[in-house]
Formats: sequence, structure tokens, C-alpha cells
Amino acid sequence: MRVLSGIQPTGRPHWGNFFGAIRQYIDLQEDNDGFYFIADLHALTTVRDADALRQNTLDAALDLLALGLDPRNATLFIQSHVPEVSELTWLLMTVAPMGLLERCHAYKEKKAKGMTADAGLFTYPVLMAADILAYDSEVVPVGQDQVQHIEVCRDLAGSFNHEFGETFVLPNAKTLDHGAKVPGTDGQKMSKSYDNTLPLFGNIKQIRKQIMRITTDSRPMEDPKEPEEDHLFQLFRLFAADDEIEAMAEKYRQGGFGYGEVKKAVAEVSETYFAEARTRREDLEANLDYVHHTLRDGAKRAREVAATVLHRAQTACGLR
Ligand code: TYM
Repeated sequence: MRVLSGIQPTGRPHWGNFFGAIRQYIDLQEDNDGFYFIADLHALTTVRDADALRQNTLDAALDLLALGLDPRNATLFIQSHVPEVSELTWLLMTVAPMGLLERCHAYKEKKAKGMTADAGLFTYPVLMAADILAYDSEVVPVGQDQVQHIEVCRDLAGSFNHEFGETFVLPNAKTLDHGAKVPGTDGQKMSKSYDNTLPLFGNIKQIRKQIMRITTDSRPMEDPKEPEEDHLFQLFRLFAADDEIEAMAEKYRQGGFGYGEVKKAVAEVSETYFAEARTRREDLEANLDYVHHTLRDGAKRAREVAATVLHRAQTACGLR
């Protein structure tokens, strides 16, 4: 199965990115034909600092490799290294209804806040559709917040196919039960734009501090609590084994414990969970030639596929 997904290099990746999306890339890579990329063109809608964008893009590659993406199993590349995708974006733009794009949440939210949006943000979902369609992707592993964009992609592919004949494969989103919407330190969805993220890498002491500051309700310690309603429990569940989760849930139901205890447990399980990736990341930092080589190789493979699909689309609509 052709599996594809992307992540924006807009800052350090967080637990939400990992448990919603990246963990799926790794789980799916062995038995599928995976294409994973760093969406630097999308990041241009928010990052206005060239050096920062370059650094974030390289960092994102290091992060993905450190977390276990294996170039022997999957193709890893940078979005802008495949110019065919930008060309395909234009073709899709011609079948993208304004109303459909107006309903997309990234644009809608910005507009609702009274902020001015540029055409890049408005047409963001069209570029994303081109990302997906350029590789005949069948499955797109993502967090819940991207599902709407994949629906838009299906709509655009369907319209193009309807106008010009069968050209594109219609993809399906794939989300996980516990992980599609990881809560942040304030209980809302974890997101760089809410400033409530817990990073995958970085200074352990600092991350521990951030964990200790996770908001909790102020009910007395003795009160029994419903674990499913608590975002701290939801975070614990991401890292722990089944028996540990059950034991923690039981503690919640019985009451008589402090949230500090759970926070400490979250800090411990998360540190253990990412320890190996941390070491691997340090090794990769010392071996940047390998990383650059991997990205070049990935772009070459990705371009081959995208060029075929672009040619098919151009032929269908009369450009060739
Ligand atoms: P981005 O960079 O915002 O996020 C990368 C992935 O992380 C998921 N995610 C979450 N999952 C669970 N809980 C959360 N709190 C959470 N926060 C983020 C996202 O759903 C995503 O899967 N537009 C995309 C990048 C992109 C793309 C694509 C993805 C560009 N082209 C084509 C798939 C296919 C984005 O901004 O992801």
C-alpha cells in the first residue's frame, strides 16, 4: 500500500505530532511503501525567517530519523525538492471551489480572529492535496486536525477525475484511537499555535518542569476521579503499558492520590520512552552527511513517482 504523510518544519515536534502521526509512519513503514516528507512550502505560510526555516527543516529530518523512520524501508524527502508538486497544485487549483476552501478550518479560524490571511494560507489545502495525489497515495496517517484536509483532497481528486477522466487515486485518512487528538499542557489540543506543547527532544529538566506545570482540576485528593476525563491521564496512557494504564485508572477511580504523583509518572515514562531516540539523534547530528544523502536520495525517488503522475494529469487535461 502506498502510504504518505508530511510534517511542517515550524518548530520542534511535540508529543501530539508523534502520537498522532509519526508513530504511525514508523509502524507502517515495514509492510508498506511509505513516502514521508517535511512540508517546507507549507511552513512558508508562517515562518518568515530563511535561516530558521532551513534549520527547522534539517531538524525535522533528524527528528524523524531519530524516532525510527528507516530510509531502507521508506522514502524521506523535503517537499520543495519535488517541484512537480507545485505544478500539480495549479492544476488542482482550477477545480477547487472557493466555498470549499473557505470552509477549511486553518483559514476560517484566522479570519474569525480578524487576522488577514494571504493566498498561501487560503490555498494551503490545495498544495496538501497535490502532496497526496502526486504519489498515488492510498493511506494518509495523520492526527484528527488534518482529516478535513484529506476530505478536501478527495473532493478535488474526484472533481478532476470527473472533468478529465480517471487520473488520481482517492486517498483515505488513517487516525489512531488514542493519539488522534493529544491534549496539551492546558487540556486543549496540543498545538504550536496554543503554546501548550511538550517537545520530543530538548532539555530534559526543562521538559520535566513543563510537565509539572500541566493544569489539573482542583478537586480534593480524596475524591474519586474519572480517568477518561483527565488530560493528564490521557498523556500517561500514551506511554505506559496496558497493566500500568489499568493500575493508574484504578487509582483515579479510588481517589486519595495527588496529581503531582501522576505528573512524576508521566515524566518518568516519557523520558524512558524517548531515551533511545535521543541517543540516536545525537549520533545523527554527528553524521549530517548521511542525513543529507538520505534526503537527496529520497527526493530523487519521490520525483520519479511525482513526474509520472503529473504527466498523467497534464495529459488528461490537455496540456500535452
Ligand atoms: P503538522 O506539521 O501541523 O502536524 C504533523 C502531524 O501531527 C499531527 N498532530 C497531532 N496529532 C494528534 N494530536 C495533536 N495534538 C496533534 N498536533 C498535530 C497532525 O495531524 C499531522 O498529522 N498540513 C500538515 C502537513 C502536511 C501534510 C501533507 C500531512 C502537508 N502536506 C500531506 C499529510 C499529507 C500539517 O500542518 O501537519
